[in-house]
Amino acid sequence: MKIGAPKETVEGENRVAMTPASALQLQKLGHECVIESGAGKAARYSDQDYKDAGVEVVKTAAALWKAADVVVKVRPLKNATEEKRVRKGQTVISFFYPAQNPEQLERMKDAGANYIAMDMVPRISRAQKMDALSSMANIAGYRAVIEAGNSFGRFFTGQVTAAGKVPPAKVLIVGAGVAGLAAIGAATSLGAQVYAFDVRPEVAEQIESMGAEFVYLEFSDEVQDGAATGGYAAPSSPEFREAQLAKFRELAPDMDIVITTALIPGRDAPKLWLKDMVEAMKPGSVVVDLAAERGGNCDLTVANEKIETKNGVTIIGYTDFPSRMATQASELYSSNIRHMISDLTPGKDGQIVHNMEDDVIRGATITYDGEITFPPPPPKVQAIAAKKPAAPEKTPEEIAAQEAALLRKAGRRQIAALVLGGLFMALVGVYAPPAFMQHFIVFVLAVFVGFQVIWGVAHALHTPLMAVTNAISGIIIVGALLQIGSNSGLVVALAAVSILVASINIVGGFMVTRRMLQMFQKS
Ligand code: NAI
Repeated sequence: MKIGAPKETVEGENRVAMTPASALQLQKLGHECVIESGAGKAARYSDQDYKDAGVEVVKTAAALWKAADVVVKVRPLKNATEEKRVRKGQTVISFFYPAQNPEQLERMKDAGANYIAMDMVPRISRAQKMDALSSMANIAGYRAVIEAGNSFGRFFTGQVTAAGKVPPAKVLIVGAGVAGLAAIGAATSLGAQVYAFDVRPEVAEQIESMGAEFVYLEFSDEVQDGAATGGYAAPSSPEFREAQLAKFRELAPDMDIVITTALIPGRDAPKLWLKDMVEAMKPGSVVVDLAAERGGNCDLTVANEKIETKNGVTIIGYTDFPSRMATQASELYSSNIRHMISDLTPGKDGQIVHNMEDDVIRGATITYDGEITFPPPPPKVQAIAAKKPAAPEKTPEEIAAQEAALLRKAGRRQIAALVLGGLFMALVGVYAPPAFMQHFIVFVLAVFVGFQVIWGVAHALHTPLMAVTNAISGIIIVGALLQIGSNSGLVVALAAVSILVASINIVGGFMVTRRMLQMFQKS
């Protein structure tokens, strides 16, 4: 099949749905690739780059739509001119937002397109590589920090200089989904002191592992957190919202930068950073509202604009963050598309098989075979596994009885092993010379004590334990070296074997330690 990418028609859109690298991958699946001349220019891919990757370059959009069996795009179709180009049976892949775009959905059904909406890819593990919303949100989160830094008149990191002490910037991230976590990563790596809040308490660990501080609410209602549904949050109760706003009000005068990313799919963005909070912020502070396209999390956000309030707070409401990093965004988006096409080409033979039994393909397909197939049924695989019913709790008496039984069993085993060991030693003692027995008993006791000590060490501590075994190996080598001048060939051979085995242990220990240290090195 021929996969084609037209030039994006929405003004200011710099991304492209096919890059030379993704075209090479698509060709490996048995497809041919075609692109409209100049489609990659704004993302810094020239026509020549595409030609070098074996892509056919056509002059006009009309020629491209005609030539391609599968058209891949970034933005939804812009107008009637573009819609008229869709022909029956053609597969079109782009963002679509079908819930907000019902009329166009109807028109695509009438046109007979098999439409795959990249924004409808379900959030399940297997579909992560096709999750374009996440890959774009990741870029948006990163870029939000960069844009904030651009409008903020101070360092992010704290410094002690000859000219004076600079405190670190305080950054609050509201909503720790994909964009929020990317923003936390970027802000902490620039040295800011980062705080983050989300209605899903399970993200607290992720937030803290990234070096930010989770903002906890004193709120004890069971329904507080809008438990996750399909990987997204659910609306929170009015009481919870009040507690949340009170916390934000308390934080507002202290924060230098606030990045809001809170969103519940299919709804307008919740208003969380209210006018009075902006007014409480210091002059020079910055608010970046990533939810601007859906009405904004901040009361004062103007979509697509950067404004400054009377008290000197900059509010950024851009809705095109990924497009502002077009090369990176095109790379990731085209890779998402390529993975989707790979799922559509199970035989890797250039033949598209639109398998509506496949959770991911079914979930993202919004029109198929002259029918509207949106909304899809819930995926068979849940985004977040339902909590298994917990086993009935045991009483303390039952736990104590169980532990005592286990101890008795272990004790019996140990006694049996000791008796057997004793009998074996006695048997050896009957035949072996006394000098041998003296060394043999020390050897057996050393093995026993060593085994008991190492067996009781937690797995996580086995690496530090290697340091001790290295020291023991050193002692073995010293002992073996003392024996190597012996007149007995057997003793020399045993000493040589001891040196070899102990050396393997020592070298192995150094190698493992080196690898462990490399894990903590910044590349
Ligand atoms: P996501 O669904 O992964 O994250 C949203 C987070 O907000 C979730 O963790 C959710 O629990 C949290 N949340 C929901 N209600 C909340 C509340 N009341 N208080 C605190 N947290 C709350 O979404 P993702 O992919 O991270 O996107 C975030 C936002 O960024 C969306 O609004 C999206 O449209 C926007 N976005 C904007 C772009 C731009 O150029 N401006 C580009 C890409 C995404």
